Amino acid sequence: MADTSYTARKSVADIVGSADAEGGRALSKTLGAPSITAMGIGAIIGAGIFVLTGTAAAQYAGPGIILSFVLGGIACAFVGLCYSELAAMLPVCGSTYTYTYATLGEVFAWIIGWDLILEYAMGAATVAVGWSGYIVSLLHNVGINIPPTLAAAPGTTVQLADGTTATGSVNLPAVLIIAILTTMLVLGTQESARINNVMVAVKLTVVAAFIAIGAFFVHPANWHPFVPPNTGAFGSFGASGVLRGSAVVFFAFIGFDAVSTAAQEAKRPQRDMPIGILGSLVICTLLYILVAAVLTGLVPYAQLNVPDPIAKGVDAIGFTWFSVLVKIGALTGLTTVILVLLYGQSRIFFTMSEDRLLPHLFSTVHPRLHTPHRSQIMIGTIVAIVAALTPIGVLGEMVSIGTLFAFVLVCGAVMYLRRSDSNATRPFRAPGVPVVPILGIAFCVLLMVGLPLVTWVRLIVWLLIGMLIYMFYGRHHSRLRHPERE
Ligand code: ALA
Repeated sequence: MADTSYTARKSVADIVGSADAEGGRALSKTLGAPSITAMGIGAIIGAGIFVLTGTAAAQYAGPGIILSFVLGGIACAFVGLCYSELAAMLPVCGSTYTYTYATLGEVFAWIIGWDLILEYAMGAATVAVGWSGYIVSLLHNVGINIPPTLAAAPGTTVQLADGTTATGSVNLPAVLIIAILTTMLVLGTQESARINNVMVAVKLTVVAAFIAIGAFFVHPANWHPFVPPNTGAFGSFGASGVLRGSAVVFFAFIGFDAVSTAAQEAKRPQRDMPIGILGSLVICTLLYILVAAVLTGLVPYAQLNVPDPIAKGVDAIGFTWFSVLVKIGALTGLTTVILVLLYGQSRIFFTMSEDRLLPHLFSTVHPRLHTPHRSQIMIGTIVAIVAALTPIGVLGEMVSIGTLFAFVLVCGAVMYLRRSDSNATRPFRAPGVPVVPILGIAFCVLLMVGLPLVTWVRLIVWLLIGMLIYMFYGRHHSRLRHPERE
């Protein structure tokens, strides 16, 4: 008898069973803790550190952005522990969507799947805008000048190297990179662990070199005042500015959850998942704090509201060659993040389509290429349009609020499953339950509070649109609610 209630949930045993069947059929368990950690770092270090740090320091927190990173890191540590438990316990693709299906049931799973579009598709758009800023800047170094109006969203004011400003109309480089990566994903060019490791190494080297060289050139006077006084508006400097800065640069931490999708391929998930998730988080948090300290020490924070703040920091050091190297490193790093996010989005849609909450189109696979080509092209097209027309600040905030919302549910899921499925096998147990998940929820909500009201309104409108789609499509087609239609 089908469970037709909205809270119908998949059982943990079913999910694990289907994962074992899948895993046994297709995936080899080859990834060890170092590869998984590298994968995490590959997905984490991107536009957050290379772009949004500058925006957030200039507009919200000043040098206090260092504290913003500390706060973001603490929130992610609690969430990371919860993720580790679920990733080891439910080793399947689909990430938070699947965890929610097993706990709060179908309607919440749909909401979270819909919400994850903000993290993955909108995240890809955000990083593509960051990529655009760096490629324009790199091309400028070699004497090619892209007109600013063709490399920024409509209405965006771009600060030029000579101090003047220009207004954007469309962001074409962002469209270009999305088109290239979508084509690669359609053709099935998957980043192998080796290529990924090389790219991660390039990215890490550049970040480490920036810290190591930049540290010798900081002007400690730039760190005063450390937290500039509040200007009278919530979020504009002062303590509330540090909080808002945290909510904005939270974007920089997104990606550690992508590691959870590799659980089926981990040699020893119970050990490798927590090490991969928490290891990549710890390494990135430390790097972020150091980069933020060096950057705000090199350049007065008010000048950091540019598309390529790290390159601006290097310009302050005065080594042109190093500036070019940093830009190449940033571009490499941003490329891997876009690739992972575009890939992740199509795989989440794939799982949702298999559950028939989305049309079959999203789980059709090309007979020869073995990729969900239609879905991937559709995602690429929409992401490209969004990236062409939306400023990075707006995008980044939407991604942050959407992801924080998903993380709240992950923490909730850990507590729920400890009661509902107390006997399930848990290869990794988050310590201190329920305190750790409760702190995870509290920190995520705190960061969400730091975001502007308009971002909340956008999130609510987005979720309402999702609910309408579920009411008119998903609930009538759902595999769980209509198994008779097999
Ligand atoms: N954390 C990723 C980035 O900063 C999404 O680009």
